[in-house]
Amino acid sequence: MCGIVGYIGKKEAFPIIIKGLKWLEYRGYDSAGVALLNGSLEVYKKKGKVIDLEEFASEKNNGGSLGIGHTRWATHGEPNDENAHPHVSMEGMFTLVHNGIIENYAELKEDLIKHGYRFNSETDTEVLANLVEYFYKQSSEINSETAVQLALSKVVGAYGIAVLCSEEKDKMVVARKGSPLVVGLGNKEYFVASDAAPIAEFTSQVVYLNDEDIAVITRNSFTLKNVQNTPVSLKISNLDLEIGELDKGEYEHFMLKEIYEQPKTIEETFRGRLRHDQSEIVLGGLINIFPKIEKAERIIIIGCGTSWHAALIGEYMLEEYAQIPVEVEYASEFRYRKPVLGENDVVILISQSGETADTLAALELAKSKGATVLGICNVVGSTLARETDAGVYTHAGIEIGVASTKAFTAQVTVLTMFALKMAKARKKIDTEEYQMLVKELSEIPEKGRLILENNENIKTIAEKYKDAINALYLGRGYLFPVALEGALKLKEISYIHAEGYAAGEMKHGPIALVDDNLPVVVVAPKDDYYEKIVSNIQEVKARKGNVIAIVTEGDVVLKEMANDIIEIPDSHPAVAPLLSVIPLQMLAYHIALMRGCNVDQPRNLAKSVTVE
Ligand code: M6R
Repeated sequence: MCGIVGYIGKKEAFPIIIKGLKWLEYRGYDSAGVALLNGSLEVYKKKGKVIDLEEFASEKNNGGSLGIGHTRWATHGEPNDENAHPHVSMEGMFTLVHNGIIENYAELKEDLIKHGYRFNSETDTEVLANLVEYFYKQSSEINSETAVQLALSKVVGAYGIAVLCSEEKDKMVVARKGSPLVVGLGNKEYFVASDAAPIAEFTSQVVYLNDEDIAVITRNSFTLKNVQNTPVSLKISNLDLEIGELDKGEYEHFMLKEIYEQPKTIEETFRGRLRHDQSEIVLGGLINIFPKIEKAERIIIIGCGTSWHAALIGEYMLEEYAQIPVEVEYASEFRYRKPVLGENDVVILISQSGETADTLAALELAKSKGATVLGICNVVGSTLARETDAGVYTHAGIEIGVASTKAFTAQVTVLTMFALKMAKARKKIDTEEYQMLVKELSEIPEKGRLILENNENIKTIAEKYKDAINALYLGRGYLFPVALEGALKLKEISYIHAEGYAAGEMKHGPIALVDDNLPVVVVAPKDDYYEKIVSNIQEVKARKGNVIAIVTEGDVVLKEMANDIIEIPDSHPAVAPLLSVIPLQMLAYHIALMRGCNVDQPRNLAKSVTVE
């Protein structure tokens, strides 16, 4: 949450920062701001989107080759111009952008007020700016980096910060704890950002800051120390990131583009891993550690939101085919429970961003208990990717829409490959079934393309239900998590209240909701549960509910019974989630659009949840 960009070098900083903020806008879009240090300090900030800031500041004095910028997801204080970052300290010596939460800000603020400090905003960040200034003023021996280090030593909480000092005009200080920051190394120029996307077009040499690192950057130097003031050695990484342009192409929204990309991204996910001869599945990131993983006594899969739904599908697959006990946990619960786990357990953390605060905390807890920790992650070089023992990238490409789509299908693809690989290694699956499933998985992209051709039909259905107040999503087996995911998509972008349920649970409560106003989306392609889910549909119909059924092509029974149907190609039940989720994403997209909602940037949400 919140995106930070900084630049120091010889180019104009303003356009680099604005473009970088546009890349990072998925992290928060309540307000945006920029500070430029060029002789004098110029700070421009605006409630609203980066484009509003760009318009506002374009006419102003925005020259200079040193600056920082921020796009905000509000934590302390409502989104307005005053609370927007950058924040300037009372005497104007320090300007700071911040991602994270200073938990003890009230106490620090009280002390600063006693020292005569006054505040213009409700933010925790302004407290930090003033605290840095306070230390700076204690002695002429104290430079800006020391002032930052002293201030951070008093802070409880999470931060990624970039700081400018008006009295040290060739320097930027950046630091992190809990909130990601990466520094790109150029030729006498440096780029700072919350993730690598804004940096990738300028350099492939990067340094990922670790917790409590403080980087001191001038045009000619880059040094690292930590909050304890101990020098830290630089670890330069090669950034292997192809980002293309931040461009919706022919699509109206990033979400729609990402939905349509899925046949290709699923292929990318299994490219080079799923062999055409259907023999070994190769997961390069796990090779060294696989002999240990295959002997695990138990697997625990952890994630949040959509990643948690993918985890449920992984559980079903691993238990069915690899016959290994699996538990699925919400990261936000796991991290605060007293879970029993040890060195014979394998913990898999799933995260698109690789920066979700709760998932990272769960990772640390699992590590501290001696478990083997693996990551399934989309963002290359993210904290999750760096902190796990080993992992698998999903290779879905950058996902900009806040509602996750292609990242989900990529996660499920990785989990399917992992489950089959485990099943084979543990000798729980015969060659014929294994090869059949590999083939089924390899056919998903082509079948997915056929579903996308159904867009107009889905749009017509969306038109019928766009004014609903509530919606129910039902599924069984592998399709229960798909029902949960469909409901999440609808609620997050259309603001219609939607519940996902295991269809068998309907009679235990949710059936009370059914009346002639309730759309009930039933994920009902032909599988072992088909007869049962047909009965569930009958029960809904008997109470006048409106059934929208996702069915296997040619299903005449449900064509008669349901109010609306969306056909998907026949596939094996274990890979059916990869297909059946696509129409649910499209349905949510069209309904949200028809309701006039901001599909790519839904209210109150941010893509990367880096605070708990
Ligand atoms: O980056 P992560 O996968 O860790 O993010 C987890 C959730 O915040 C995320 O899936 C969220 O639920 C999405 N907005 C769902 O579309």
